[in-house]
Amino acid sequence: MKILAIETSCDETVIAILECIGDEHAATFSVLGNALLSQIEIHKQYGGVFPALAKREHAKNLVPILEAALEEAELLREDKQIISEETRAKISKILAREPGLSEAFFEFVSECEIPEIGAIAVTAGPGLEPALWVGINFAKALALVWNKPLVAVNHMEGHIFAALASSQNENLLINNIEMPVLALLISGGHTQLVLMREWLKYELIGETRDDAVGEAFDKVARMLSLPYPGGPEISRLAESARSKLGSCSRGSTSRDILPRPMIHEDSCDFSFAGLKTAVMNLLKKIPDVSEDDKKDIALEFENAVTDVLWHKTSRALNETAAKTLVIGGGVSANVHIQRTFTEKIREIHPDVALHIPEPAMSTDNAIMIALAGYYRAIRNEFATDFKANGNLPLI
Ligand code: KG4
Ligand code: ZN
Repeated sequence: MKILAIETSCDETVIAILECIGDEHAATFSVLGNALLSQIEIHKQYGGVFPALAKREHAKNLVPILEAALEEAELLREDKQIISEETRAKISKILAREPGLSEAFFEFVSECEIPEIGAIAVTAGPGLEPALWVGINFAKALALVWNKPLVAVNHMEGHIFAALASSQNENLLINNIEMPVLALLISGGHTQLVLMREWLKYELIGETRDDAVGEAFDKVARMLSLPYPGGPEISRLAESARSKLGSCSRGSTSRDILPRPMIHEDSCDFSFAGLKTAVMNLLKKIPDVSEDDKKDIALEFENAVTDVLWHKTSRALNETAAKTLVIGGGVSANVHIQRTFTEKIREIHPDVALHIPEPAMSTDNAIMIALAGYYRAIRNEFATDFKANGNLPLI
């Protein structure tokens, strides 16, 4: 089955088309087309994502991105399509709140053949609601005009699937996954430990009581006057400090003074707000913050976050007897977190299979929406009437 997946939950407009074969025991995916337009440069000047602007950009980008993805997948053929008045009226209503998109949509679909795809998957949440709505309305309009079934995908489930998939001979494979699977989900809006005992059924094991870990990275980056998005910038500075210290895995600076919140508490929950405040207090004590100070603080912050993430995950592995551990979400791109988890799993939980997403699959993408969408589609979990939900829960 070919799945066309749309992701617009934040600041990237992405459409991917995947050929998907197999079932829950073993599935193979090949990426036929994958087109993306990032808005990072636009949002950079505001120091974060500006929802109304994100929505407008998605509305502008969706048709060109769809065309590019179909073209790459060799599914784009010119042909005049007659759209009935009734369908046209329904679609106009769906796209009424997306100025400019309606015109571009009709112009495009009336000039191209209906592509051979089996289903359309779209992110329904969590994310920025105005941004999610554009993708959902676009998907609903496409499903109507092409008469295709629609799958609503939870973005965090997408991050789990991105980690479960491994590359092999230019394909993505999900096979030999031993249950239960424990997922550490770390992104701009989430910090959760989630257990999957059977496919697509989730239990919450722990979560942040305040800030998400990606949010803490971004806020600390702002305190250090680093550009948005802050996570990769902190990571770059911390790595630079680490290499100067001559240690490839963990530095130890004179400023080993940031707290490790809740690390010894008897639960799998997290808290990162205090850590952020501790960085602020630390900065207040330094009169002129130099580049070296920034590197030391980035290093210490990254070490503190990684210590907490590891301790809580290790506790959850013991409590749940999970056989597989996946790390998903944008923060999973962090090399120090990846390195620490790889080393610690080998040392402390050698029987647990660790899955970390490939670099391009760790941050938001539409391939992961197609993977999760396929697992829903083969269970016939199609949806017609659903809404964008900025806080859509996984559990
Ligand atoms: O999953 P994602 O792309 O978007 C959300 O669903 O939130 O995650 C974005 C978050 C941002 O907070 C960003 O700073 C963080 O992931 N991030 C990183 C790294 N790359 C992205 N944090 C730490 N180290 C990185 N290398
Ligand atoms: Zn994400």
